[in-house]
Amino acid sequence: MKVLYTASDIAEKVAELGDKISLAYQGHELFIIGILKGGFMFMSDLVRRINLPMRIEFARLSSYGNSDSPIGDVALLDDIHEPITGKHVLIVDDIMDTGHSLLAYKKHLLEKGPASVKICTMIDKTQRRETSVSPDYYGFRISEGFVVGYGLDFAENYRTLPQLCVLDPEDRRNLS
Ligand code: IMP
Ligand code: MG
Repeated sequence: MKVLYTASDIAEKVAELGDKISLAYQGHELFIIGILKGGFMFMSDLVRRINLPMRIEFARLSSYGNSDSPIGDVALLDDIHEPITGKHVLIVDDIMDTGHSLLAYKKHLLEKGPASVKICTMIDKTQRRETSVSPDYYGFRISEGFVVGYGLDFAENYRTLPQLCVLDPEDRRNLS
């Protein structure tokens, strides 16, 4: 397993993103929605670097299960429990890959009448994108590879690592 970004690379990037978002939404309250489970670590670091009044909610989308390939349609397992009418919403997740999950969730949120909906992911993984969506804010951009750590898992492994690593095909075989 190769380290892509260390804990200090991540902290630096999160601080940068926090400044950028604080500036972009100056004078507004931000309604932040963290996507479980992958986005939990990034979300908790990011909100501490944003200098704005904020509301925090979580939603849970279906994951890839115990494989690294998408399995059909995106399922919304748990949604937010507060109204977002007229609110500036920022969705925070670990990674955008094909884009299907976050595009589907963004469309769902837009039906609730928010003032805006934007997306922030720790990683923008571009090669397998199958939708027109891309993150409005992202920490690191990579083209391919299966990333674990800092909230991202492979079959529930490696989620709690403080750094972002890329998994070898060999490691994947051993765990599946
Ligand atoms: P998308 O709908 O294809 O954009 O997939 C988004 C979800 O797939 C992410 O929120 C992750 O849960 C999972 N995913 C995609 N790529 C990776 C990866 O490299 N490592 C871990 N999870 C991934
Ligand atoms: Mg996810």
